[in-house]
Amino acid sequence: MTTLLFATNNQHKLREIQDIMGNEFRILCLKDVDMDVEIPETQETIEGNAAQKARFIYQITGMNCFADDTGLEIDALEGRPGVYSARYAGEGCTFEENIFKILKELSGMENRKACFRTVICLIMDGKEQLFEGRIDGVIIPERRGADGFGYDPVFLPDGYRQTFAEMPAYLKNGISHRGRAAGKMVKWIKSEKAK
Ligand code: IMP
Repeated sequence: MTTLLFATNNQHKLREIQDIMGNEFRILCLKDVDMDVEIPETQETIEGNAAQKARFIYQITGMNCFADDTGLEIDALEGRPGVYSARYAGEGCTFEENIFKILKELSGMENRKACFRTVICLIMDGKEQLFEGRIDGVIIPERRGADGFGYDPVFLPDGYRQTFAEMPAYLKNGISHRGRAAGKMVKWIKSEKAK
């Protein structure tokens, strides 16, 4: 069993990552190690933020750990909200307010193409590695579905009829940005262990 500390207290993400990585991995969140600190996230790219967060918790705990950062990149908005996805409608805003803002900006636009991109930075046995996962889709004009979080109700992945918020979790995890990035991380860890 490999134990890794994940730089999050978001229970949605924790559950998703644990499901994706399977029971060969024990994933701890910050609460599990009594870490109650604000993790800096001040970089201008998702790669930069993932690395900043992972290095920060590694310096404090010395544990094998990883951090992820995700952006929703919308073509017609020149890649926005991107690295600002969490706080697009303003500091401390809700998921609903973020959705409202992108739908307003996209209203009347024909090009609805978007992608979610996740970068995971893993620090294991002192080695730092980045893994990227991406899923393409479109932003639909109305919310559909009640599951998931964030922009899930308006993101329809290419080739599917259900939004991320309508899909069962196993289906979302199997194709999502985070699922793909975590899948690459699992593969890398297994190959390192086999050396
Ligand atoms: P984070 O960097 O993973 O915290 O993601 C930044 C923001 O992107 C979140 O606050 C959500 O609004 C959005 N986001 C990240 N992952 C997802 C997802 O799987 N579905 C929908 N929105 C997401």
